[in-house]
Amino acid sequence: MWRSLRPLGRSAASGGYRRYAWTGADADCRLWFRMQAEARRLDVETDRNGNQWAWLGDPAAGDAVVTGSHLDSVPDGGAFDGPLGVVSAFAALDELRARGVSFRRPLAIVNFGDEEGARFGLACVGSRLTAGRLTKEQAYELRDADGITLPQAMEAAGHDPSRIGADPERLGRIRAFVELHVEQGRALDLSGDAVGIASAIWPHGRWRYDFAGEANHAGTTRLVDRRDPMLTYAETVLAARREAELAGAVATFGKIAVEPNGVNAIPSMVRGWLDARAADQGSLDAVVTGIETAAREHADRHGIDLAVVRESFTPVVDFSHALRDELSRVLGEKTPVLGTGAGHDAGILSESVPTAMLFVRNPTGVSHSPAESAAEDDCVAGVRALADVLEELACR
Ligand code: GLV
Ligand code: MN
Ligand code: MN
Repeated sequence: MWRSLRPLGRSAASGGYRRYAWTGADADCRLWFRMQAEARRLDVETDRNGNQWAWLGDPAAGDAVVTGSHLDSVPDGGAFDGPLGVVSAFAALDELRARGVSFRRPLAIVNFGDEEGARFGLACVGSRLTAGRLTKEQAYELRDADGITLPQAMEAAGHDPSRIGADPERLGRIRAFVELHVEQGRALDLSGDAVGIASAIWPHGRWRYDFAGEANHAGTTRLVDRRDPMLTYAETVLAARREAELAGAVATFGKIAVEPNGVNAIPSMVRGWLDARAADQGSLDAVVTGIETAAREHADRHGIDLAVVRESFTPVVDFSHALRDELSRVLGEKTPVLGTGAGHDAGILSESVPTAMLFVRNPTGVSHSPAESAAEDDCVAGVRALADVLEELACR
């Protein structure tokens, strides 16, 4: 599986992945999913929101056990974030069949669409739509950097966007969802464990900062006459670091758009996207407010107009305690239980269905980068753990 999935959407230049929603690379990944499912005699369907489901048993029977993750990537992402959960899901099914177990409930493997939000700026679009956390009207407003709207992109990829929206009936047929994911920090490496169980996802969000100044000549405009939004942006980045340290949070400006984007022109506009996360809502509020206050002070000093727009927000996720306890019982009480600052479809689903996550050790802790890694033995341990959990949930 790994060999056939590995080349899809990989950039020769960076060695990282560019699997963005509703692009050719995304279509290649969807075809790969379909072929894996069909090779296992599973029934494949794409739901109204573009998520793919591979079913063993009758979906209409209800009480289904679902596992899987996503195949899309961030810009120049690693090989494991998302795909490890989908590959492991198919491998766990193979393992259960090799064990000769009988399934008492339907089992589905899912590939959620557009988890990373790399193209349209909003993460977990497929699961958000399904869970009713993103309305059709809101989704229709999403645009990529070229101005292509989400429905246009769906249509171009052969998916009818007119039916997107909440799908409570589908969620109502799910007994439990378990997502396996590569760990995106080093907790398991430090504790010396191959596999862990997720406790919670930190509250997190994305904010767009528009710094508007005045375009002018880089050679002839005196420093005192400038209204340079890049300067205010830079001061805001420094403030974000400081406020994050104060609040015990994390804050990142990882994306920027500059107009007119000329070497010899003072910019007229700098747009920066803030990603901020913290273990609790109070700390997140403190860091977000602190950054905006600092940005406004700097903006006022330099004659810059500042607009701040919250583009998305995901409150804290506390995964089902009953399911967590069940996983601990199946995998052993010594299996570490850890929280994470990374967002996941599991976090979105957890409001509607009992949800749990398994993490697989990442020796460097690096993620959202081509350097992301996981040892083969650990991936195998992850598959076994997932199979044990699925056996408990679907076969007993
Ligand atoms: C998704 O991986 C996120 O946490 O941004
Ligand atoms: Mn990710
Ligand atoms: Mn992921």
